[in-house]
Amino acid sequence: MKIVVVQGPNLNMLGIREQQVYGPMKLEQIHAQMKDFAGQNNIEIEFFQSNLEGEIVDKVQECYGDADGIILNAAAYTHTSIAIRDAVSAVSLPTIEVHISNIHRREEFRKDNMIAPVCTSSIVGFGPFGYHLAMMGMLQIFQEVNAAKEMQQQQAPQA
Ligand code: DQA
Repeated sequence: MKIVVVQGPNLNMLGIREQQVYGPMKLEQIHAQMKDFAGQNNIEIEFFQSNLEGEIVDKVQECYGDADGIILNAAAYTHTSIAIRDAVSAVSLPTIEVHISNIHRREEFRKDNMIAPVCTSSIVGFGPFGYHLAMMGMLQIFQEVNAAKEMQQQQAPQA
């Protein structure tokens, strides 16, 4: 099973930008922890970060047929991007949205969320630990998907 982690604009500045909001951890450190957890659980994982909306759309589209789940922090595009929302909807993969900060208790404009309605689940406000929670959530989804597949195989009439 494979997870693609898609990170939006300015998340490459973690550890530098607004530490009082996002904390001191760098994106590479977050990804290193996710990679360890994926390895321990036999999950393939790929990381992608872009500051460009179209590149994020392209990456989400590439997940179709390649990945089993997406962990997505669309960052500022969360609040504006119908294009990323449509891409997530189009590929129809289990998608967990992560926000490091609690977007519900910040500025009014962060309450608009284009992405959440097309995601399986949203994790907000846990800091970088939210990515770990997303990994655990995705494992649970994979287990359920595999159990459903096994059940279908057992019920299928033998040829
Ligand atoms: C963010 C929240 C967004 O509102 C903001 O634009 C970001 C980061 C978060 O992880 O808390 O860049 O997605």
